[in-house]
Amino acid sequence: MNRDQIAELEKHVLIPTYDRLPILAVRGEGCYIYDEAGKKYLDFLGGLAVNALGYNHPEIMAALRDGSETLLHVSNLLYHPYQAPLAEKLTRLSGMDRAFFANSGTEAVDGAIKLVRAWGRKQAAPGPFERFEVLALENSFHGRTFGALSATWPKKYREPFEPLPPGVRFVRSNDPEHLRQSFTPNVAAVLLEVIQGEGGVNELGANFLKTAAELCHTHGALLICDEIQCGVGRTGRFFAFTKFDLQPDIVLVAKPLAAGLPLAAILAREEVAQAFSPGMHGTTFGGGPLQCRLALKVLEILGSPGFLPRVSEVGAYFRQELEKLRADLPVIQEVRGDGLMVAAELAVPGKVVVRQALEAGLLLNCTQEKVLRFLPPLIIEKQHVDEAIGILRPVLAALEPAAAMKGVNA
Ligand SMILES: Cc1ncc(COP(=O)(O)O)c(C=O)c1O
Repeated sequence: MNRDQIAELEKHVLIPTYDRLPILAVRGEGCYIYDEAGKKYLDFLGGLAVNALGYNHPEIMAALRDGSETLLHVSNLLYHPYQAPLAEKLTRLSGMDRAFFANSGTEAVDGAIKLVRAWGRKQAAPGPFERFEVLALENSFHGRTFGALSATWPKKYREPFEPLPPGVRFVRSNDPEHLRQSFTPNVAAVLLEVIQGEGGVNELGANFLKTAAELCHTHGALLICDEIQCGVGRTGRFFAFTKFDLQPDIVLVAKPLAAGLPLAAILAREEVAQAFSPGMHGTTFGGGPLQCRLALKVLEILGSPGFLPRVSEVGAYFRQELEKLRADLPVIQEVRGDGLMVAAELAVPGKVVVRQALEAGLLLNCTQEKVLRFLPPLIIEKQHVDEAIGILRPVLAALEPAAAMKGVNA
């Protein structure tokens, strides 16, 4: 079936949750996706931060082939050789003590909220249990299942499904005073993304993060870093939070962890992790042998000499080239990001840019209506940045008249 036939069939058989771009992806290689006609697209979306090693990475493919021929799945009722070494590696890298493996980001967030409740209850005096509140931030995105959804800021995601589980309150991002005022004895945790991804690639300020850490420490509450989008090498560091003076109690990872297979992890400090006992939490697929094996390989590659410094270097080059574009084209209002988590905020809606760039062979994303978001594979090189900029320049230049009408060139 060709793209149009697939699109027509999907119209009738899928529950309509996705608004797809007009590409039938049939193959990937390195930083490129190919459609059924063989047209290639430079992928600066990276499967929404999943394809950190691009497509068809030889070492990943070798591990995948070998793993698929030996042990695809066993239940969590048995040991297998890969879960413990992966837990050991992730905890060492994050400074945490223990890991629980889930399948997706939202599950990791839901599991963390359960862990917070179990931890709070364990500490509470007998009687009514009230210390289960989680403070989340405005503009946050933590997922779509009920627990994670209750901590996800945009109303459009939450409202159709209310009532949601109680216990989450939202605090203004980067407003230390509001955070301070919001702390009550019932607050058990603060949940945040050091760089808010869906929220528009907004890095939280050092002062705000310091205040969050201090307040958690003073009140004996837990600090949870959701590194599902910004973690696992994306910023040129294994974890984005290590840029700041932060010691989280729980760290959440997912997206790129198993190179495209579903895998997430809740990483927790010892005392927090001990709030769960056998039977309190679990999953059929989480932490399966093939996923864990691939994740070990991903971490090995990210940890190889020079890999992460190169992510920082290429990321800085990308932002510099976008800044040059901004100097010529005022339709770009701001360039921001860290490593290869990059955004260009426009003065006008970005949907048309996504469509036109795609036609010209570049895949990117727009979030928050006007924010072009780039999450390319971490293996891109400067030549890929040049190629992307070469495609973006005429597309954005064509928007200048619309921007001028809005007065941004004045
Ligand atoms: C920061 C963050 N947390 C959680 C999630 C949810 O992850 P998933 O889509 O794997 O459920 C996302 C997804 O974009 C995310 O960016």
